[in-house]
Amino acid sequence: MKVMIVGGGGREHALAWKLCRDNPSIELIIAPGNPGIESLGRCVPIGADKLKDLVNLADGEQIDLTVVGPESPLEAGIVNLFQTHGLPVFGPTREAARIETSKRFAKDLMVRSGIPTARATQHSDAKEAKAALANFASPVVIKASGLAGGKGVIVAQSTAEAERAIDAMLGDRVFGAAGREILIEEFMEGEELSLFAITDGHQALPLLAAQDHKRLLEGDFGPNTGGMGAYAPTSIATPELISRAMTEIIRPTLSAMREAGSPFKGLLYAGLVITDEGPKVVEFNCRFGDPETQTILPLMDSSLLELLIAVARGDSLSRTRYPDWSPLCAVTTVVAAAGYPDKVRTGDVIHLPPPEEGVEVFHAGTARHPLTNELLTAGGRVVSVTAVASTLIEAAELSRSHAEQVSFSGKQLRRDIGWRELTRSARVT
Ligand code: GLY
Repeated sequence: MKVMIVGGGGREHALAWKLCRDNPSIELIIAPGNPGIESLGRCVPIGADKLKDLVNLADGEQIDLTVVGPESPLEAGIVNLFQTHGLPVFGPTREAARIETSKRFAKDLMVRSGIPTARATQHSDAKEAKAALANFASPVVIKASGLAGGKGVIVAQSTAEAERAIDAMLGDRVFGAAGREILIEEFMEGEELSLFAITDGHQALPLLAAQDHKRLLEGDFGPNTGGMGAYAPTSIATPELISRAMTEIIRPTLSAMREAGSPFKGLLYAGLVITDEGPKVVEFNCRFGDPETQTILPLMDSSLLELLIAVARGDSLSRTRYPDWSPLCAVTTVVAAAGYPDKVRTGDVIHLPPPEEGVEVFHAGTARHPLTNELLTAGGRVVSVTAVASTLIEAAELSRSHAEQVSFSGKQLRRDIGWRELTRSARVT
């Protein structure tokens, strides 16, 4: 069986790692991949945005399953294109991907369907947006409607800060066309939870919920990033809470997407806040999360490959059992480059520590020097270090100590991944 993964980050490395574990005899092609994935399959230097080249590659290689990692090719319609060519592909169509690529679309759908989410208003005019701030208490959330690489959300602590964010998005267009429209949202108090569900458009199978750390600095301070680390399982994701989130959020969303004429097939990622009133949606994503994928896949005992194949082939998941999970704990520490999440410096030489039992290092922003073959930094998040152990504290210590040994100039990492859960368990014991 030939499988192609589109993308070249830590999430795609983890997907490749898991699919090879599910079936070691698959032939894997990754476009474009990265130096860490090379040991698992053949990396082909075609960017995730080169849709025609990708479809030609899949056609020529007679690929049995393509799995799309990042959101941009989904927004560009890679699934529509592959389907037109009769190629099995896992991911939502361009229209269904709007659940992530247009925050406005997602908010309208949630409001229309009574899916719990933050109260929000939508604007394309800065003056009107600033006037609307009067209807929100501080802190207030200012969000670009389109894709902004995980950076289009600003939690403003004051009206002045909110006005600066509005000017930056609608006036200076710091996020380009993605910030042509913005949402002003009430800030929701509570812990965040990442819930992934694999869906055929009707049935949805929840995966193990994780908590990620989006802020750059320890204690969850500093600017938002794509994610500096994640852990699972988390005690806030009780079976009752997940059942409630499936009943009140995931299933009604799938139903609303069908009614909108854009059935969602693929992986639906609900970014939730657990408020006093129950789980509410912060945002949806239309693909596997990064770095949560690196955290949860090492704990997945069932075959992911079989689920992805079933959805890509258009089979129903109605008779599929919920996946089985290891009883162990996983912690992922992201090691980021100098300057991340702003102006990232690349080209620093990386030295990785020797492999360690219980630890997987997933490459993200790495590249090989064309002459010396040295491993170099090539992106904001450089590697993610996932440790699996019997307890969360052991996994956190192992992940942190291995990440500390990854060396390159200007590296940044958080040494407190999982702190909320560790604080909770310390309170209990
Ligand atoms: N962990 C956040 C994301 O994948 O967008």
